[in-house]
Amino acid sequence: AKTFKIAVLPGDGIGPEVMAEAIRVLDAIGRKYDAVFDGTFANVGGAGIDHEGKALPQTTIDICKASDAILFGSVGGPKWESLPPDEQPERGALLPLRKIFGLYANLRPAIIFPSLTGASSLKEEVISGGFNVLVIRELTGGIYFAQPKGIEGQGRERVGFDTMRYSVPEIERITHVAFQAARKRGKKVCSIDKANVLSSSVLWREVVTAIAKEYPDVELSHMYVDNAAMQLVRWPKQFDVILCENMFGDILSDEAAMLTGSLGMLPSASLAEGTFGMYEPSGGSAPDIAGQGIANPIAQILSAGMMLKFSCGMVEAADAIDTAVATVLEQGYRTRDIFQNKPGEKLVNTKEMGDAIIAALK
Ligand code: NAD
Ligand code: IPM
Ligand code: MN
Repeated sequence: AKTFKIAVLPGDGIGPEVMAEAIRVLDAIGRKYDAVFDGTFANVGGAGIDHEGKALPQTTIDICKASDAILFGSVGGPKWESLPPDEQPERGALLPLRKIFGLYANLRPAIIFPSLTGASSLKEEVISGGFNVLVIRELTGGIYFAQPKGIEGQGRERVGFDTMRYSVPEIERITHVAFQAARKRGKKVCSIDKANVLSSSVLWREVVTAIAKEYPDVELSHMYVDNAAMQLVRWPKQFDVILCENMFGDILSDEAAMLTGSLGMLPSASLAEGTFGMYEPSGGSAPDIAGQGIANPIAQILSAGMMLKFSCGMVEAADAIDTAVATVLEQGYRTRDIFQNKPGEKLVNTKEMGDAIIAALK
């Protein structure tokens, strides 16, 4: 059997709850497709702070470095929000992980499953027939990382500042990812920017336009981010691949998630050059429902599926996970976030959803 070393970083809040189901699904996949997922658990985020004194302990980095992929849950929560910003789970662990491993390309596929059209916040006629939008988010640059950033001065004289900055190579490489992805699907890229205000966006638009010439078979359009936020809820079917810088992609992907019914449905792959990647749900640690065993594990399970596809070369197994998820949704299984109380729906908890998906795999 093929063996893959996986760094398993459940993190905080619902992270460990949904991760447990993703691991069970991977075990079932391993049995079915003759593969071994050799998982090594490591602390990250608040769990890192509580157990090892740091959001991203060196032991965790070493485990990730020795692995073929990272399966990541979610980090953060009220318990750690009063720590110095750079020590908090998000800025102390998640962002450094993305940077250390060069995970510049974040793929967030927002697909509406036909049986979930009722759970979408959009009217049935707007989403009927489904939609399939792939948000491609630049993940290691822009306002999240560029220097200078900080808070300076005293009292009311204090100023807080961040820098939005993009280099030509940073824009080029994520643009190639978007066009290559579009080539394999709807052959349209819509690049999002704020070129009417931001200089980084003027350069972004120029570089994207130049790279597009290498892909004459793919149609390029540009849209300002404010309009894009509106168009996504007005008529999401107009989009195929959406290409964004880091912060715009963060915001628009949460919006796209809700069109599919719940943030708990949206997986993501954070990819470097080569086959290494980190796979993480797009949503967070959901402190409002953590500890109750009711979170939707589907985003985490679909993220594990993306890992099979991009880091393990197991495309058939990845498709099997997507199919199993579609099947259980058709069978009416619903965690609370996607429960509509319609005939045929069965309200289930996190573990029961995992059970149903594993049963559907067989
Ligand atoms: P959130 O994504 O955690 O939650 C937003 C809403 O979506 C909540 O009502 C939550 O219950 C719901 N939700 C999210 N995932 C769900 C799931 N799987 N099933 C059911 N419902 C789900 O965002 P937030 O409340 O703004 O942030 C909470 C914490 O999570 C913060 O500390 C934030 O920084 C962190 N966060 C971490 C990540 C990550 O680790 N990748 C991503 C986003 C937010
Ligand atoms: C995400 C999250 C993170 C981000 C936070 C927790 C740092 O919101 O993965 O979408 O903004 O990238
Ligand atoms: Mn986000």
